[in-house]
Amino acid sequence: MIVSGSASQTLAAALAAELGEELALVEYDRFPDGELLAALSEFAAERAIVVASTVSSDAHLELLQLQDAARETGAEEVVTVLPYMGYGRQDAAFEAGQPVSARAVARAISTGADRVLTVNPHEADVRAFFEPTAEVVDAAGRLAEPLPAALVDPVFLAPDAGATALAGTVRDAHGTGEVDHFEKRRRSGADVEITPSGVDVAGRDVVVVDDIVATGSTMSEAIEHLTDADRVFVACVHPLLIRNARLKLARAGVETVYGTDTVEGPASAVSVAPAIADRLRS
Ligand code: R5P
Repeated sequence: MIVSGSASQTLAAALAAELGEELALVEYDRFPDGELLAALSEFAAERAIVVASTVSSDAHLELLQLQDAARETGAEEVVTVLPYMGYGRQDAAFEAGQPVSARAVARAISTGADRVLTVNPHEADVRAFFEPTAEVVDAAGRLAEPLPAALVDPVFLAPDAGATALAGTVRDAHGTGEVDHFEKRRRSGADVEITPSGVDVAGRDVVVVDDIVATGSTMSEAIEHLTDADRVFVACVHPLLIRNARLKLARAGVETVYGTDTVEGPASAVSVAPAIADRLRS
């Protein structure tokens, strides 16, 4: 039976359809003091597949509750699917005194899960924070699907070196094009400096590919160096698009911003449900 976190209801339904599993009814409530109560009102299965993107601190807590509720209701196996793993970018103590938040949340989730799957984590190493090690589902190839078939001499560009493999995967799925990357230096949470490469984008279509678009700072800074390009598309696995990210990207002249349904919203153009279902079947 599929059990959905409140932020992943559409993806959970798509996964239920893919797998031919029932979708449990979940009530998402809150006590007057603000504490959450996520409860299963109909659940009867030996295996619970809990699908919950941890897009907020509340979503993390809700996931822990759902894992516990599934066990409480008789599930013998709990499989947790983290389409988007929140706190995944805090995968190290970057300054003295900081926590390794990704490890802390992974440990908490592991206490209630027999198996954990996550989609394109920011750093693959976070898998090892889970016990047992989390399995990674790669959904990047699907990002080629919403692109126009006829791109003009396309460049698949990563805004930093870390996203180059992702850009390559999207290029491979599209079929043709050059892959390149810029260099990024982060000054603060929402302030980044981008150094362009020597790629000539004049008159060409550019697809800028990243794992996450959060504040949109990385993308909008990168796009400032693409004024000679014909069209600019932004593709990401996790379209968090917080604060004024959409405004920033629209003002930068982006043709389309799209991502997957790991983070559900208007930019969720492709579903990761088939990729998750394939992994669960294996
Ligand atoms: C970080 O290296 C990630 O790959 C993304 O580039 C980053 O999370 C995007 O964040 P923002 O949209 O806030 O610049």
